[in-house]
Amino acid sequence: MTERTLIIVKPDSMSKRVGGKVLNALESCGLQMVACKMLQLSRPSAEDFYGEHKGKEFYEPLVAFMSSNPCIVTVWEGAGAIKKAREVIGATDPAQAKDDTIRKMYATDNRHNAVHGSDSFKSAEREIAFFFNHEEIFPWQEKIYKK
Ligand code: RTP
Ligand code: MG
Repeated sequence: MTERTLIIVKPDSMSKRVGGKVLNALESCGLQMVACKMLQLSRPSAEDFYGEHKGKEFYEPLVAFMSSNPCIVTVWEGAGAIKKAREVIGATDPAQAKDDTIRKMYATDNRHNAVHGSDSFKSAEREIAFFFNHEEIFPWQEKIYKK
């Protein structure tokens, strides 16, 4: 089923100048980028975005990190996009991530872990709407883009 998922190239990837490589890994797994913007999350926005983790011990440092520097927020489209992206992203902790996953290649630790990907259809819907309005998303037109 064609799905959309929200991917954030996190501030650590931007600082390490591997943001393009993170995006390239997603393109290489066959997904199509359909929306993109660079921004710096405000503290309240980061708190809201990661609200499901409020109260956990890593919540405050996570919010501080995510609002510390700019990131690239993107939407990707494709068959099974949510699961596919999570597979190429890899485990939360790069020490546990499989070879050739984005986190294995570019993350530093389980906070500075390079990239965020929606974890379910419901999360994807919420997260895409968090950053993008309808006019900012450009659906994949296969006949135009396919080689
Ligand atoms: P994300 O939401 O960022 O894509 O990461 P995820 O699904 O793999 O992990 P999740 O459980 O949703 O956690 C969100 C982010 O919180 C930080 N975290 N730190 N034990 C810890 O110190 C810890 N656990 C999670 C990570 O930055 C994780 O990406
Ligand atoms: Mg998550």
